[in-house]
Amino acid sequence: MKIAIVGTGYVGLVSGTCFAEIGVNVVCVDTDEKKIENLKKGIIPIYEPGLEDMVLRNTKAGRLNFTTSLKECLDDVDVVFSAVGTPPDEDGSADLKYVLQVARTIGANMNKYLLVVTKSTVPVGTAKKVKDAIQEELDKRGVKIEFDVASNPEFLKEGNAVDDFMSPDRVVVGVESERAQKLMTKLYKPFLLNNFRVIFMDIPSAEMTKYAANSMLATRISFMNDIANLCELVGANVNMVRSGIGSDTRIGRKFLYAGCGYGGSCFPKDVKALIKTAEQNGYEMRVLKAVEEVNERQKGILFDKLNDYFKGDLKGKTIALWGLAFKPETDDMREAPSLVLIDKLLAAGCNVRVYDPASMEEAKRRLGDIVYYAKDMYDALLDSDALMLLTEWKEFRLPAWGVIKKAMNNNVILDGRNIYDIKELRELGFVYHCIGE
Ligand SMILES: NC(=O)c1ccc[n+]([C@@H]2O[C@H](COP(=O)([O-])OP(=O)(O)OC[C@H]3O[C@@H](n4cnc5c(N)ncnc54)[C@H](O)[C@@H]3O)[C@@H](O)[C@H]2O)c1
Repeated sequence: MKIAIVGTGYVGLVSGTCFAEIGVNVVCVDTDEKKIENLKKGIIPIYEPGLEDMVLRNTKAGRLNFTTSLKECLDDVDVVFSAVGTPPDEDGSADLKYVLQVARTIGANMNKYLLVVTKSTVPVGTAKKVKDAIQEELDKRGVKIEFDVASNPEFLKEGNAVDDFMSPDRVVVGVESERAQKLMTKLYKPFLLNNFRVIFMDIPSAEMTKYAANSMLATRISFMNDIANLCELVGANVNMVRSGIGSDTRIGRKFLYAGCGYGGSCFPKDVKALIKTAEQNGYEMRVLKAVEEVNERQKGILFDKLNDYFKGDLKGKTIALWGLAFKPETDDMREAPSLVLIDKLLAAGCNVRVYDPASMEEAKRRLGDIVYYAKDMYDALLDSDALMLLTEWKEFRLPAWGVIKKAMNNNVILDGRNIYDIKELRELGFVYHCIGE
């Protein structure tokens, strides 16, 4: 089988590479010429554990190819996956311009049956828009060519994307024809040989499933952040509360960590988009509006703690930040809490020294020279008045506290991910605050 994956970002590159790994002939398409040029040379545009080796291996085997021309590969493929970005529009709804651009290019250039699968996260009703856009182009050309559309939302997690794709909990597929279902079964069967966990459904339900999943996870995080803030006021410990409730099988342990807010390319935009879809249909998503509000407040919580500690006198203070990416094992800084915090610190007149194991280049691209980019985690601490931990990278878990104490001016540690032991840190002489304790 030969497929095209359009959009060679986090989702497209991982999906394309994993399909190639199981023997599918894949061509990855992107309009970003530099990205494609680099990929052809074996230069990977993102940090994702395990991906580089897999890309190189499959490229070498000839199963994974890269191009900027979707038009030129349409005659050779059976299925086209669209994995282009769907950023939030000004009003919070998903911007479908790239998705529809791809659909129009397909309609304008296809010469035989194709299954067109949307992998991007798109609001309910998008498959119909994709279908109409393709048909319009075919009508313009005056040709009759059969095609199907399908919805196959992606659930991979950045930082664990390759494993998630190779061994998915389940695969959700929305189809409206048997032919499409057969093709999708053929493609996914090799990933699920022992236990076929593809859930077929109608297309609107598949489109909605992705938003419902991300909104549920975002809700758990905001709920726990609310509980954490209350814990601080009443003298409870959110980590103990988490253990207490997470052991209830009806609740489960995952996504119950209090912290300094969720970020990334998915939760913020998908929660916004679902609120908007509801509005467009005359319904108000009250829970999700609160989820967003709590998250916005939570992104500022470490700053408030710092401000309280220094009694509002932050001008000229040097603050070290450990972690810039929105979560560990990725270089992705989209909607990261670090960006909000850096803005607040600079506005308050602080000097900011940052370190992240993977996203220093991305930070330089986004922030320029407004902060100091440290050579390593200890360099970030030099003469600092406080350390703020924002991303729970493994290398931050067991630092050399003696070295830290010597490097810092003031022994203040504000932990936005609750990775240190409060008792130990206070015994070592640090002023230590985390979330919900
Ligand atoms: N990042 C994640 O963890 C994740 C997980 C699940 C679902 N999703 C969804 O998948 C979609 C893609 O997300 P991403 O993070 O991979 O985005 P991304 O921004 O990393 O990549 C999108 C790519 O599409 C390319 N592109 C845009 N228009 C194009 C066109 N007309 N033709 C060819 N290429 C084009 C861009 O150049 C870019 O390389 C989004 O809808 C997102 O919500 C993302």
